[in-house]
Amino acid sequence: MTPPSEHGSARQRRASSIVVAIDGPAASGKSSTAHWVAERLSYRHIDSGAVYRAATAATMHSQRSPEWWTDAIVLASAASIALRERGDSFEPVFAGVPMEDMIRGLDVTQNVSRVARMPAVRLWVNDKVRAAADGFDVVADGRDIGTVVFPDADLKIFLVADSWERARRRLTQRLSRRPTDAEIAVETELLVQRDARDAMQTMQAKDAVLIDTTYLTQEEQVERIVALAQAVTQRASDTSPR
Ligand code: DC
Repeated sequence: MTPPSEHGSARQRRASSIVVAIDGPAASGKSSTAHWVAERLSYRHIDSGAVYRAATAATMHSQRSPEWWTDAIVLASAASIALRERGDSFEPVFAGVPMEDMIRGLDVTQNVSRVARMPAVRLWVNDKVRAAADGFDVVADGRDIGTVVFPDADLKIFLVADSWERARRRLTQRLSRRPTDAEIAVETELLVQRDARDAMQTMQAKDAVLIDTTYLTQEEQVERIVALAQAVTQRASDTSPR
């Protein structure tokens, strides 16, 4: 059996590959939608936010107070991070240890915007994401995926949803029950603050298809994106030289 390499895959590398880029604000459902779209299309899923989170978790490990973090400190802490293949996706591992549980914690969520604003860290994440995508059909999600990381993506989607609805979805997932209006109101306030902190990084590409998911189910939004991606791949195969 061939051992999994950092960016290796049992899938065939392709000379010409398709990139579907999904952007949107916090809790717009980017990552879960990207995951399902990738599964439906048998593409790889790359969650770039998970790489920012991994860099944040690794820096927390250094025990330095977040106010003192600089690009150089974060990059030094993140040097032991690798993206390891897991199924049709990737997971960050730190010194060989999977980071999935650490990167979803509240302390990481509270500090990740600070790390995501650091220009040198953004370059480092973008390199990792591009290397993981190289030669494969991918669905990649994140704030600047369609503008900076893959400006030539074959299909760009920008997901939006009303902040109350995003807060409601996030809480339902976190609490595994129906949240009260008071709980949603508190979460909405936090989301609006986070949108403001991440505003610089959240850019809608001019050629992105805007999908407002406020009144769509997860299945409906996935179906729309799959249909758009299939139209793009059909057009690419119609126009490619035989
Ligand atoms: O999508 P998320 O909550 O996992 O993203 C974590 C943080 O990383 C959030 O502050 C937005 C930021 N991010 C970014 O600036 N650019 C990306 N391509 C992906 C995420």
